[in-house]
Amino acid sequence: MADSSKACVIFWSTLLLASTVAALWPAFPSDMGASSSSESKQSSQRRRLLQAGFGAGGEVSETCTCTSEFQGVDSRSRENENSIQDLRSAVNSLKDTVNKMKKSVGSGKGVASAQSYNIAFSARVGYNRPYLGETEVIVFDELVINNGDVYDPYSGKFTSPVPGLYHFETTILSGFNATIETMLVLNGNEVGRVFSGGFNNRGSGSNSVLLNMEAGDEVWVSVFFGNGDYVHGLWSTWTGYMVYPFSV
Ligand SMILES: *[C@@H]1O[C@H](CO)[C@@H](O)[C@H](O)[C@H]1NC(C)=O
Repeated sequence: MADSSKACVIFWSTLLLASTVAALWPAFPSDMGASSSSESKQSSQRRRLLQAGFGAGGEVSETCTCTSEFQGVDSRSRENENSIQDLRSAVNSLKDTVNKMKKSVGSGKGVASAQSYNIAFSARVGYNRPYLGETEVIVFDELVINNGDVYDPYSGKFTSPVPGLYHFETTILSGFNATIETMLVLNGNEVGRVFSGGFNNRGSGSNSVLLNMEAGDEVWVSVFFGNGDYVHGLWSTWTGYMVYPFSV
């Protein structure tokens, strides 16, 4: 029984080896041994596929190179797009600034923003102003300077062309043996008082004020108290100028 069982094992092992060799045979290159013409064809096809996939000059390698070049171009184009975006926002910011400057110029009496510092006027009363009523505006009709055309010598009012810090000062000489009280006025609100008067003589008083003003705000001098008193001509003055403009 043991001998027949051994022979059985040898038989089956031989059969398994033979079938394995038969199965693997087409994978061997054709020059390794004798083979039919169809087996030779299959083998050379395999070789060509291997060369195409992993060879240095194969089609797949060329595709890889092309893809990486495309990625380079793509990232450069994205960089350019970002640069264009940066330029666009810079241009928009400049446009905003120019528009603000235009508005600032437009709100005044033709005063350019670059000339904002050159806002100044100086005027005086050309002749005696008697019988002034209470709160009546004192018109300093005689112009000395009017840089930026900011003072109206007919109404006696200053109008600020641009937002900024402004300085004003007035000196009022009273009539003989009389007193007059006046005030500095911003948009109808008193912001400073002046007393002028003398006993058996004339007397002058003055005051000044610093104001934060918006474009279009008005400042003038008016009578505060003293119906019938008068402001002396030529000795009474009214001046104002911009100290510096606020940002446009
Ligand atoms: C000044 O006014 C006072 C008070 O009214 C008066 O007494 C005096 O005579 C006046 N002086 C002159 C020079 O008119």
